[in-house]
Amino acid sequence: MVKRPRRNRKSAVIRNMVEETYITASNLIFPLFIVEGNNIKSEVSSMPGIYRYSVDNLLREVESCMNLGLHAFDLFPNINEALKDKTASESIREGSLYLQAIAEVKRHFPEACVITDVAMDPYSSDGHDGIVENGEILNDETLEILGNMALAHAQAGADIVAPSDMMDGRVGYIRRVLDENGFTDVSLMSYTAKYASAFYGPFRDALNSAPKHGDKKTYQMNPANQREALIEAELDTQEGADFLMVKPALAYLDVIKLLKDNFDLPIAAYNVSGEYAMIKASARNGWLNEQRATMEVLMGIRRAGATAILSYHAKAVLEQKWL
Ligand code: PBG
Repeated sequence: MVKRPRRNRKSAVIRNMVEETYITASNLIFPLFIVEGNNIKSEVSSMPGIYRYSVDNLLREVESCMNLGLHAFDLFPNINEALKDKTASESIREGSLYLQAIAEVKRHFPEACVITDVAMDPYSSDGHDGIVENGEILNDETLEILGNMALAHAQAGADIVAPSDMMDGRVGYIRRVLDENGFTDVSLMSYTAKYASAFYGPFRDALNSAPKHGDKKTYQMNPANQREALIEAELDTQEGADFLMVKPALAYLDVIKLLKDNFDLPIAAYNVSGEYAMIKASARNGWLNEQRATMEVLMGIRRAGATAILSYHAKAVLEQKWL
């Protein structure tokens, strides 16, 4: 045998020398859940180690992340059932929980990157990402709501708005609204290929945002489809997206790679709540090593081509020096 690949694995120094993929703190985005109240930090039961924070505690959490070198945050609100309605009106109310949280984080940490979720579901009495009429999700009527929501986020200080709804045409619509109002510098991270996935379960627990009826299959993508992601990516690119996101990540590494190979925009991947819960649950049972499994998953997502990874593991990775 002339060729022996094991020679390049024989010591840690050589293994590190030939390592092809890296993760740094700069690649990580940390999702954070917000809830009304004071001094609240309540754990999401299906996501051990992940909490819903009232705004005061949110600021403490952001500070501790910033000290670890974690500078990008994606915020999600848990809204009181009583404030929900058909049109998600709470989402644009001045002084609402979410708008206040965005403004407070930016006021205390101007250098933090605040990413906001543009979607109706946490505010919708139907638990859907669009206006529901006779059981149907209305596309074009929903765009105006999303545009107003994105504008409210920009006014509150968002650095990046991230529409996660999967309505057709929303990227272009939001881009136009932002530009017309002078927010040409606010970036748009589009949930480009967002699949109708079972892996969002724990997130819907965290926000109490599950659909009250039906499912999201008429707008989120069919897990069987890969090529369809090219159509979504083409549209988002034309409509002015700055990032293309694939979600979930782990079961869709081929889609990450496909978009990476075919588009020049940076690719983000969302390592979603169910993917987090799987690792936490098996680690708790002693069925796998949490550190090694987490890093292997994040590395796989990077290797597939994601530049940025949204992950609930982000803080633990830095806190426990797993990089
Ligand atoms: C909804 C939204 C969802 C997630 C992010 N934004 C859930 C859904 O589509 O029902 C899921 C994130 C996760 O599971 O971690 N706009």
